[in-house]
Amino acid sequence: MGSKEQTAAGMTEPACDFFNRLANRQLVIAHRGYRACYPENTLCAFAHSLGRSDMVELDVQLSADGVAVVFHDDHLARTSNAAALAPELGVSNLALRDWSLAQLRRLDVGSWFLAADPFSSISKGVVDGKLLRDLMPQQLPTLAETLAWAVGNQMPLNVELKDMGQTRLNDALVAQVVADVRAAGASAQVIVSSFNHHALRACRQTAPEIAVAALQEGVHPPDLTSYLRDLGACAYHPADDVTDQALVTTLRAAGFAVNVFTVNDPGRQRQLFAFGATGVFTDFPKPCL
Ligand code: G3P
Ligand code: MG
Repeated sequence: MGSKEQTAAGMTEPACDFFNRLANRQLVIAHRGYRACYPENTLCAFAHSLGRSDMVELDVQLSADGVAVVFHDDHLARTSNAAALAPELGVSNLALRDWSLAQLRRLDVGSWFLAADPFSSISKGVVDGKLLRDLMPQQLPTLAETLAWAVGNQMPLNVELKDMGQTRLNDALVAQVVADVRAAGASAQVIVSSFNHHALRACRQTAPEIAVAALQEGVHPPDLTSYLRDLGACAYHPADDVTDQALVTTLRAAGFAVNVFTVNDPGRQRQLFAFGATGVFTDFPKPCL
């Protein structure tokens, strides 16, 4: 990807220097960290993506007391021991937004991976089970501590805003993420993305210095290049199954970055880069061992 293309029409926003700073790389973006080999959205997954990826993608939502925390699902059950701990903590449901930070910090968000082996990486012996066990338990990370890690390691971050289901909460999430990014001095190192494009508009209004990317699955918005320009987006993040050569060519010619999720097949990754895609989100930034 040439720098001339990157600075073309679509990315005239100063915030889009985010991509210009990444130079000519074909971006390998570690989806939820390095989630095929380490538990998703944990500091240990992020740490193991160093040297294996150009950027780390993570998901954020708000705790009950308004702290931005790193976690994918609305509910805590799949990737934590919340079900076992809830009675002791006096919590009656497993929706993350009903748990305070103090309660969330009691969780182990790592050990589920040993039992579930979601990518068969342990059973196939492509990840070191002993090393994994030694890394447990893992605490649920705050965005602030993840930003501090990213700044310390000069790792670009894609912060994905999850939809909290209520406008009030989505607005609060945008405000908190912007506050955390600014406090960390990480505005130039972060791109904010979301399937909720209203949240992206709010982010642009609150923090014009931070780059945003529109996530999309299913049907593309009509008149996509105008749509992205109006949104002030630097990038489009489409699902792989709605991405083809024409989409990538059109958006790249208009100056937008195109980062495709989630692409684990190396052949498809090569094809997307041949189309001109700027990046791929992958669960396997490199083989585990
Ligand atoms: O940002 C790409 C990807 O993370 C979007 O989907 O559900 O994995 O957050 P999801
Ligand atoms: Mg995500």
